[in-house]
Amino acid sequence: MNADALRKAIADRSACIGVIGCGYVGLPLAVGFAKSGYGVIAVDVDPERVRKLGAGESYIGDVPSDAVAAEVKAGRFTATMDYGALRKAHIIFVAVPTPFDRAKQPDLSYIISAAESIAAVLQKGQLVVLESTTYPGTTDEVMRPILERSGLHAGVDFYLAFSPERIDPGNKMFGIENTPKVVGGIDPESTGLAAAALQVITKGRIHTVSSARVAELTKLLENTFRAVNIALVNELAMLCDRMGIDIWEVIDAAATKPYGFMPFYPGPGVGGHCIPVDPYYLAWKAREYDFHTKFIELAAETNLAMPFFTVARIRKQLNDAGRSLRDSRVLVLGASFKKDIDDARESAAIRVMEILKAEGALVEHHDPHVPAVRLASPLFGSNGDHHTLRSVELDAKRLRQSDCVVILVAHSAVDYTAVLREASLVFDAVNATRGRDGQAQVERL
Ligand SMILES: NC(=O)c1ccc[n+]([C@@H]2O[C@H](COP(=O)([O-])OP(=O)(O)OC[C@H]3O[C@@H](n4cnc5c(N)ncnc54)[C@H](O)[C@@H]3O)[C@@H](O)[C@H]2O)c1
Repeated sequence: MNADALRKAIADRSACIGVIGCGYVGLPLAVGFAKSGYGVIAVDVDPERVRKLGAGESYIGDVPSDAVAAEVKAGRFTATMDYGALRKAHIIFVAVPTPFDRAKQPDLSYIISAAESIAAVLQKGQLVVLESTTYPGTTDEVMRPILERSGLHAGVDFYLAFSPERIDPGNKMFGIENTPKVVGGIDPESTGLAAAALQVITKGRIHTVSSARVAELTKLLENTFRAVNIALVNELAMLCDRMGIDIWEVIDAAATKPYGFMPFYPGPGVGGHCIPVDPYYLAWKAREYDFHTKFIELAAETNLAMPFFTVARIRKQLNDAGRSLRDSRVLVLGASFKKDIDDARESAAIRVMEILKAEGALVEHHDPHVPAVRLASPLFGSNGDHHTLRSVELDAKRLRQSDCVVILVAHSAVDYTAVLREASLVFDAVNATRGRDGQAQVERL
């Protein structure tokens, strides 16, 4: 299929869409295309996920099961572990994980494995679009040569582009259907085709750039911007603690400025698989160019210190109440990496719990969205040992029996007024108790 035929297939919805990796990014994308009338083949290596999708069940909070079931029933959506099914796809999106390893170096093994599997079934005229967040050069230097092992040439026999995903799980205002997308291909034809394909599932603008590298770096700029600004307010939060100034009041006041200021909020650390991970991808790649990304390193240093600072504040609060952290009953509220979602990957709350436990506190946790967490033990150089902590019921008795209740995620489903009414000591790292009264002695970050 040549570019014109592919463009026509996109326009008349006869194009078949493949999506590799059906997680937080891939599943909304796959369902988005199916809802827009395209036939979608969703490929995942996780048999349980494939089984659920085939049965019309979703496991991603922002994608209702009804939406998957409707597309399965309409015959527009199939899920499989078989890459061979992608032979009939016209466009293949790749949304596999890009974590870092224990030394915080990029782990591209998922992209490499997906690319190898695509190479085995790649067809002339197909368009491959990488959506996973990664360092500049991945599409060109890593994906392209692997795909070309098929004997087909990028830009001649198949098209290749990168389009970063901006999805923000839990965000009720912005989803795949209204968030602008950035697209950069290995050549103008690839860019144009990827832009045409993505335009059908979003009312947001498609912003095309001159190369895949520009698109790759765009995503890293966005997330590094957040990491650096969060680090800045975290540093100010630590200073405000010394100065006896309420950082939350300062941010609210600064946010009244209608231009030139954007509020970021402090917290027990940054979590998720984007903000704490993506900047490292850039820092790692920069070293290849004899360049040290000092802002990234500094932001990481500050943000990584926040769980320890949080525990230090809890220790002091208990100390002021005549108790030691060791053997105190500490009830942690919130385990996910941000409010109202069930994703606990790289969660700062988990790090805080690990440190509390390592210091001898008797830790319990409650999270309405996360049934259990795995705490690494020992704290550093973990040899793979983990301790599973199940979410406990939140009731008045438990709140009263806790020596300190620590709020690390401001989930909407938690009754913070009840927390202040029943608990004796509360450490609030996320300003969830603001404007509420109760007999508890409250400290804020
Ligand atoms: N989750 C977010 O909020 C978000 C936002 C923007 C960008 N991203 C980026 O998108 C990418 C995907 O993240 P995610 O959160 O969707 O991950 P995820 O873990 O939720 O989903 C990834 C899926 O890929 C599957 N998978 C792994 N290897 C595979 C392979 N070789 N072939 C087929 N399937 C495979 C996994 O089983 C899983 O279902 C990452 O690069 C991430 O940084 C994520």
